[in-house]
Amino acid sequence: MIKKIGVAILGLGVVGGGTYKLLTEHKEYYLKTQNVDITVEAVLVRNKEKALAFGVPKNVLCSNIAEVVANPNVDIVVETIGGCEAAKEYVLTALRDGKTVVTANKELICKYSHELERVAKRTGCGLYFEASCVGGVPIIRTLLDGVQANKVQEMMGIINGTTNYILSKMSQEGADYGETLKEAQRLGYAEADPTNDVEGFDALYKLSILSSLAFHTKVPYTKIFREGITKVTGIDIAYGKDLGYTLKLLAIGKNGEDGVEVRVHPTFIPETHPLASVSDSFNAVYLKGDAVGDVMLYGRGAGSFPTASAVVSDVLYASTHSEVRYSTFKNTANADGSVKFVSDFESAYYLRLSVDDEAGVLAKISGVFSKCNISLVEVSQVSKKKGQNEAEEMGRVPLVIVTHTTKESLIKNAVAKLNALKIGEVKALIRVER
Ligand code: NDP
Ligand code: HSE
Repeated sequence: MIKKIGVAILGLGVVGGGTYKLLTEHKEYYLKTQNVDITVEAVLVRNKEKALAFGVPKNVLCSNIAEVVANPNVDIVVETIGGCEAAKEYVLTALRDGKTVVTANKELICKYSHELERVAKRTGCGLYFEASCVGGVPIIRTLLDGVQANKVQEMMGIINGTTNYILSKMSQEGADYGETLKEAQRLGYAEADPTNDVEGFDALYKLSILSSLAFHTKVPYTKIFREGITKVTGIDIAYGKDLGYTLKLLAIGKNGEDGVEVRVHPTFIPETHPLASVSDSFNAVYLKGDAVGDVMLYGRGAGSFPTASAVVSDVLYASTHSEVRYSTFKNTANADGSVKFVSDFESAYYLRLSVDDEAGVLAKISGVFSKCNISLVEVSQVSKKKGQNEAEEMGRVPLVIVTHTTKESLIKNAVAKLNALKIGEVKALIRVER
């Protein structure tokens, strides 16, 4: 039997626009393959002229949420506005009114899923958010269904398209950071405020959602260590290349004996690592399950149609499943008291120093590492790269150091001690995963 479903789309930007096109262009296909007849019944926008020019018929356009929820033909509300202001109010209104919600909004789900889910449970509605993490890559469905049999021990991924695009271009073409960011915005990869991308907040929201689902415990975003890519220079990307490394903004989640460890930061990985070849706006996530071993998902993490693919898949799922599934964990603002979080994590490190070109300097530096109980893999005086500030580096030489695995607190202590020596300065500190 054919099921008739009415959809409302809130916000007609990059993702909302892609969703509108996919739903309308594939209407017959979904009818034929999945027995659902989906009609876009309402599109909520601020600028009706823009929406008309986009091809949305006048009779479906509206400008307030009350109109949307009052429409008896609307079964599913798709939220593609972003942020936590209007979006939160509209999603709550829809859920309270008994409409299932599909959202692409990672910030909203990361910060308020507990509030939204409570209302959804009360009114028996679905709350779906596949598009909120890793764009078109079906990571949420994989965590909820595909690897459900496993205790997921670890995940590591490139989960922000904008920063991967920027780092790839900087590495492959020596491109300028600012220009490449503008290009990522033009291509529709970046958030409304790109600070969220380049400072790692977007990846942090996603990691909070993904690790909560993977580890079956709320992982509040406040527990995640975060560092963005704004301090990354072409100089370090080039030195890293000489050492056989590629630089990526990685999101790392581990659930081990010491507790849950979650972090987002620029990371050097060996150029032979499978994540090293993930370029452009592509994303990839590695999962390690106790039964399945390694699983890797790869695909477009941002952009209009890739993200619409995830949104519409949720719409189809909601249309064809009568039973709603909620979080597998107690969805609260904070984790249960019994869950421990690891703050002093372990990593290997790359350091670039600019040091006085004098006898005895290397001995002083290695003395600091030895006192801090940090063992070194590599110490090399390297030749200057394009972009180094000649005046600032006058009489100084660049020194690159790679450490064995050590604790974050020990390396921070070593950096403070190195800077206090007054024989140079630590110019860069980048974590290394081998
Ligand atoms: P855009 O900025 O392109 O689109 C947002 C749209 O929402 C704009 O058209 C804007 O209207 C509209 N809007 C904002 N406030 C209101 C409001 N109060 N009432 C009605 N409309 C409003 O953002 P994206 O499409 O890129 O992102 C949307 C969501 O999808 C975000 O949560 C984002 O994190 C998420 N996402 C984005 C991806 C991407 O690749 N871009 C990928 C995965 C998720 P106006 O034109 O008037 O400003
Ligand atoms: N701004 C995000 C990114 C969109 O660049 O990955 C996808 O969530």
